[in-house]
Amino acid sequence: MAVGISGSPSATSKSRVLVEHALAQLEARGAAVRLIDVATLPADALLGRGSASQLTDALARVAEARIVVAGTPVYRATYSGLLKVFFDLLPQDALVGKVGVPIVTGHGVAHSLALDHGLRPLFASVGATVIAHGVYATSEQFADGTPAAELRAAVDRAVREAVALASAGSD
Ligand SMILES: Cc1cc2nc3c(=O)[nH]c(=O)nc-3n(C[C@H](O)[C@H](O)[C@H](O)COP(=O)(O)O)c2cc1C
Repeated sequence: MAVGISGSPSATSKSRVLVEHALAQLEARGAAVRLIDVATLPADALLGRGSASQLTDALARVAEARIVVAGTPVYRATYSGLLKVFFDLLPQDALVGKVGVPIVTGHGVAHSLALDHGLRPLFASVGATVIAHGVYATSEQFADGTPAAELRAAVDRAVREAVALASAGSD
């Protein structure tokens, strides 16, 4: 099982499109997949002001997954607050034995280190084994509203790395 976590509040999110592309690739390889769009989860529960079955279910799906794809826009030079509140609700060591696939979209290249200095340590903080090559994309790479071929290829490579790592981990 693979889950994709989308941490963008945008209805036309570029990072979510890349997460969906990764999930489609994983599904084509036989994985059961599930998209968790954090923006659609109840805000009070996300902020710890109560509980909600949708949130409990989303956290359970993460617990079942072998591969966890996380996508986020760059906000203020790092991952979105929306993604962070979801990760804050994961138990310590929630992603031990799981493979993390980081995907980040920013307007330009200036904040591309949000991938390696933001999302990678966020994954590591809950124990995930993170693939070598995450994906960072700029607005330019969505020129006609869809991801450029080289960007789709970068996501495909990330998926191949994740599948290889997940298989190695099951020995
Ligand atoms: C509140 C806010 C903060 C942003 N901060 C940055 C930033 O620091 N660096 C950057 O390159 N882009 C920044 N952007 C642009 C987004 O990262 C960019 O448009 C991204 O592709 C949006 O992804 P999404 O479509 O998945 O939401 C910001 C956008 C918003 C709305």
